[in-house]
Amino acid sequence: MTTPNAVIDPRFEIARIDRRVFGGFVEHLGRHIYDGIHEPGHPAADADGFRADVIELVRELGVSTIRYPGGNFVSGYRWEDGVGPREDRPRRLDLAWHSTETNEVGLHEFARWLELVGSDLMLAVNLGTRGTQEAIDLLEYVNADADTAWTRRRAANGRPSPFGVGMWCLGNEMDGPWQLGHRNADDYGKLASRTAKAMRMLDPDVELVVCGSSGSGMPTFGSWERTVLEHTFDDVDFISCHSYYQERFGNAQEFLASGVDMSRFISSVVSIADAVAATKKSDKRIMISFDEWNVWYLHNDEGGQDDKPLEAGWPVAPRLLEDRYHALDAVVFGDLLITLLQHSDRVRSASLAQLVNVIAPIMTEPGGPAWRQTTFFPFALTSRLAGERAVSVPVSSGSFDSERFGTVANVNAVATIDGEGVSLFVVNRSTTDTEALSIDIAAVAASFGRDLRVAESHLLHEDDRYAANTLAEPERVGVRALPDVRTHEGELSLSLPPISWAAVRLS
Ligand code: AHR
Repeated sequence: MTTPNAVIDPRFEIARIDRRVFGGFVEHLGRHIYDGIHEPGHPAADADGFRADVIELVRELGVSTIRYPGGNFVSGYRWEDGVGPREDRPRRLDLAWHSTETNEVGLHEFARWLELVGSDLMLAVNLGTRGTQEAIDLLEYVNADADTAWTRRRAANGRPSPFGVGMWCLGNEMDGPWQLGHRNADDYGKLASRTAKAMRMLDPDVELVVCGSSGSGMPTFGSWERTVLEHTFDDVDFISCHSYYQERFGNAQEFLASGVDMSRFISSVVSIADAVAATKKSDKRIMISFDEWNVWYLHNDEGGQDDKPLEAGWPVAPRLLEDRYHALDAVVFGDLLITLLQHSDRVRSASLAQLVNVIAPIMTEPGGPAWRQTTFFPFALTSRLAGERAVSVPVSSGSFDSERFGTVANVNAVATIDGEGVSLFVVNRSTTDTEALSIDIAAVAASFGRDLRVAESHLLHEDDRYAANTLAEPERVGVRALPDVRTHEGELSLSLPPISWAAVRLS
């Protein structure tokens, strides 16, 4: 028997996992809605124009809550444009993505689609070009159980009973100069506080998310959170974090340290929120809604941006942000999920940005197939296998030197425990070293009063780290069983090749 270099022990419990961490995000952007989830002429489309093949994949992905309708889009959106008879709905310019919004899909259609995929709605209000009145109009339309002009309109549009949306975002990325209606922290904090108070007067049960920074690299990061929370601390439940990662200048090793960046980001925001709590002599704890996270090749190595259509004018559903994800991206992505679970005590909601065609785990071709990108696999497996409680997994492994983070461990892992067994999620971030793990599971097995055996295992690794799934080759990358995983005398042993992610279920 080897000496264990890791342990899964229920005494290292972090917190109960809020299923909302397995959330997604759908924005009116590019081919996400139109020619993505909604393509009336497609052979797989239902009577409402929703593609059944996409619905099936979204169900398989296992997304809990879906944030809608943006993103940058929401900061110029008039939600009333998207309700009522379709023939009366206005076409509008979408300034965020330089596109034309047809409004064929709006609140009612999206809520119906969510019923089909089995996810809950999380709404964002426009605090860019609009304000408190429009936010409470929308809340009244969506959640009020009373006889009013708005609820009559809702009923006339086919929905007599309230939608009952529980989670609401107070705008989107209001710290970003690119945002319509961008404000400084003081102005946004006051507006968010006024709006939150009004929303709570209408519906005291809503959970509210105030905008944090659009990234930890923003010049105002830190001071933004502090000022915004000084204004809104008593009014909100969550503060948002957004973060996107990408390989730069072909430096895969540095890219593989992205989880460290996400972890530090979360810890910093928690510290600021708790510092504001201390100044207010409050025991209240503001939670984190990490409501945009992913790999996104926003900037190429020359610093360019792919966020405006190539077509001239204001196209409908242009191809935008259609990143192709490699095996390497999926390993980093899996590590980001591990990181979110490691912060389950404060990250109570998260939204993978985004879902279909736009920086997405699911791709579609108009009139053609839908397929899984590499990032689909770690998300679907983590969502399906994660149990009720997250548990830290201390690991002793090799390490590498990161330019930004100093010494970074090759292996990062988290486990979850539920009534039936244990799940382990683990990543090898090294570009060169295989990592052999020998994990002491005696304590967790004892907590079940029986031996634990490997029920299933999944490895994501490709010798060609840039292998991807494409229209031509949609199943090039997938997962396979770990070749040499086993339990023996209170130990779980497995071996992880360089740049790999794995999930193991013990029961
Ligand atoms: O997810 C794409 C965009 O990224 C969102 O619209 C915006 O909120 C963020 O900058």
